[in-house]
Amino acid sequence: MNVLTFASNEELSAYAADYILDLVRAKPDAVLGLATGETPIGVYEQLVDRHRKSQISLRQVKAFNLDEYAGLSPDHEQSYQVYMRKHLFSGIDLPPEQAYIPCGIADDLWAAARDYDRLLNEAGPLDLQLLGIGHNGHIGFNEPGEELNAETHVVKLTEETRAANSRYFQSLAEVPQYAVTMGVGPIMRAKQVLLIVRGENKAGVLKKALYGPVTTRCPASLLQLHPRLTVLLDEGAAKEL
Ligand code: GLP
Repeated sequence: MNVLTFASNEELSAYAADYILDLVRAKPDAVLGLATGETPIGVYEQLVDRHRKSQISLRQVKAFNLDEYAGLSPDHEQSYQVYMRKHLFSGIDLPPEQAYIPCGIADDLWAAARDYDRLLNEAGPLDLQLLGIGHNGHIGFNEPGEELNAETHVVKLTEETRAANSRYFQSLAEVPQYAVTMGVGPIMRAKQVLLIVRGENKAGVLKKALYGPVTTRCPASLLQLHPRLTVLLDEGAAKEL
């Protein structure tokens, strides 16, 4: 595992954006696994900026997002569809039909999840999975528990996760109870994983994830087993390492 600490979010995000674009330069039809949350916003901003300035094209890239809230339509302000369009897809030349996000509103969410795995398997393995980490150690929406799912699945969000994400909604009651998430299989099969973590409030969970026991109680701890993991941190997140 390669752990790098940066003095500012700008530097961290710039490094991550360059890392991703270097991969696309070397492999224009790269398959990328993408994440949401507050942490990657700076990375996406810098990707858009670099794309504009450098003319690097992403039109052959395929992108698979980790997760989506169940029950939020693709135009709901807090859906990850809207997030991705707003922060990344509207600013790059990745064709919309090559940008996949789990479906949160299908009549049969489980059937839609299986379709997502089929698409992932046809395109995969992922060349790179960009990841954040939840306060409880979740990756995507793979929540801590007695077991983890390898495949895309419907998950009941923990109250901790709902509370953490309620800052984006009018109230806690509005935060969906369920989500659809990629399982840990494609993440662990990704050729490389880029984990980005910011803020002192993630320092404890990050230490557990990187140096604690490998356990389904901390899904991010599985990353210790990944053969090519790069971790990008700010000084706050690195505090307990
Ligand atoms: C969200 C997402 C995760 C993300 C995590 C941390 O709920 N499902 O993919 O990594 O929580 O988000 P943030 O960067 O906002 O702390």
